[in-house]
Amino acid sequence: MLNGTPSSEATRRRTFAIISHPDAGKTTLTEKFLLYAGAVSEAGAVKARAGRRSATSDWMAMEQERGISITSTVLQFTYRDHVVNLLDTPGHRDFSEDTYRVLAAADAAVMVLDVARGIETQTRKLFEVCRARQLPILTFINKYDRPGRDPLELVDELEQQIQLRATPVTWPVGIPGDFRGVIDRRTGHFARFTRTARGAMAAGEEILEADVAAKEEGAAWAQAVDETSLLDEVGADLDTESFREGESSPLFVGSALTNFGVRHLLDAVVDLAPSPTPREDRDGTSRPLDSGFSGFVFKIQANMNPGHRDHVAFLRVCSGRFERGMTAVHGRTGKPFNTKYAASVFGAERDTIDLAFPGDVIGLVNASELHIGDSLYVDEPVAYPEIPTFAPELFAAARGIDTGRYKQFRRGLDQLEQEGVVQVLRDPNGDPTPILAAVGAMQFEVFVHRLKNEFGAEVELLRMPHTLARRTDEATARELVKNSRIRVLRRRDAELLALFETEWTLQRLEQDHPDWCLEPILVGTTPT
Ligand code: G4P
Repeated sequence: MLNGTPSSEATRRRTFAIISHPDAGKTTLTEKFLLYAGAVSEAGAVKARAGRRSATSDWMAMEQERGISITSTVLQFTYRDHVVNLLDTPGHRDFSEDTYRVLAAADAAVMVLDVARGIETQTRKLFEVCRARQLPILTFINKYDRPGRDPLELVDELEQQIQLRATPVTWPVGIPGDFRGVIDRRTGHFARFTRTARGAMAAGEEILEADVAAKEEGAAWAQAVDETSLLDEVGADLDTESFREGESSPLFVGSALTNFGVRHLLDAVVDLAPSPTPREDRDGTSRPLDSGFSGFVFKIQANMNPGHRDHVAFLRVCSGRFERGMTAVHGRTGKPFNTKYAASVFGAERDTIDLAFPGDVIGLVNASELHIGDSLYVDEPVAYPEIPTFAPELFAAARGIDTGRYKQFRRGLDQLEQEGVVQVLRDPNGDPTPILAAVGAMQFEVFVHRLKNEFGAEVELLRMPHTLARRTDEATARELVKNSRIRVLRRRDAELLALFETEWTLQRLEQDHPDWCLEPILVGTTPT
């Protein structure tokens, strides 16, 4: 029933994203969440059955065939009378700033680690964005059905490498590759799992008291008990307060493929992850959940439908009750905004959405006047904080191929920069060639594609050898440009960015000139 007050509906909602390195099991876990929530009757069917709510993987494959991938949307399902919004963070080849921006719309994240690999580069980058936002994180150690590392070692790695204190809620019985089940540290009970064919159905689960488990599981149980005693000794216990602040992370162990431990994790999303709370505006004032409808745009997706030119702005609802057709105010322009074309969008699928509450995401179709970070509201005005830009790692010079279409090129460049498709850097000394900056190569592809198709300007991109950027000042910039391999460019917010080819060059400069200004661009810097 979707007719409570906004605050009571918010209490039922959990809005989260899964962060992981490619291949750690995000897609598999997403499917298994759907299976456990009853949104699909058989896992695997999700991937196979076209025309139904398609899984991320289908959509990505389709997009990749077209050579342009731009998706990151939301999957909504109910579980235990809660409405769960799972935001999709694009991975693999379509990693982009959108992957980070999605986290601005989430209230929590599930970090999936492959038991054999631990923390990997992409996990770390995404984690840093979560940390900058103090996003609560649940950790899932996946693939425990096959050989991997000692889970205690992974707990240690989290603490050492990313200063995240893991507080295991479940602990595995059996070594990686011989996974019997988990101890639930809250109750001391053993949940013993049995496989189902291809993991298509929920795993069989038997709950045993500790003494029965000891008899039946022998040495595997004894070892798990030893390890949990160690965790007790070091006080690695669930701590809701530090979890909510993003400092500790409830940890679960399982196998998405065989469904072992998936229920425990999904239960934790409902039981531990926070429901939407009043969001702060740019001045730090919270807008009550029961005030008029409001939300902010965190992502814009264009050309999803090759049949016609298409533009969807994704808005996270922050307060009030959204009803399709209502007229809101577009904060940046002050103009009325009609919400007639609101839809829920997942992959290529679209349904109109009539009602939404705080925590939900709506897709506003063909709302080309909306930019990333824009707020919509009714009643009291509100301006939510801008979505940050992120430290770019890829750079390319952009040259219009047809000089006769320079105007179209400029217009497209401005528009796509404002939409956040790429960041645009300019030479402060007058070289007119704009330099595009991105966190993922797909952003460049989207840029070229849209510039051609929407603005009629063909563009040639020349990739540059630089791989990292630092914020700098005028004095340091004068020194840096003496090195022909370093570029110093200006961003839209007037910041100067220095681009380096290798980490090594940068480190040497930092050592030789400790007084130079070479500040890391944290994952979140807000353009003004
Ligand atoms: P991603 O979205 O994070 O990139 O990962 P995805 O779920 O696609 O999983 C990557 C591979 O890891 C897949 O195998 C998947 O079946 C496997 N996998 C996921 N979870 C588990 C697990 O708990 N245990 C084991 N053993 N494997 C797991 P693939 O061979 O690449 O694809 P597929 O042919 O199985 O679809």
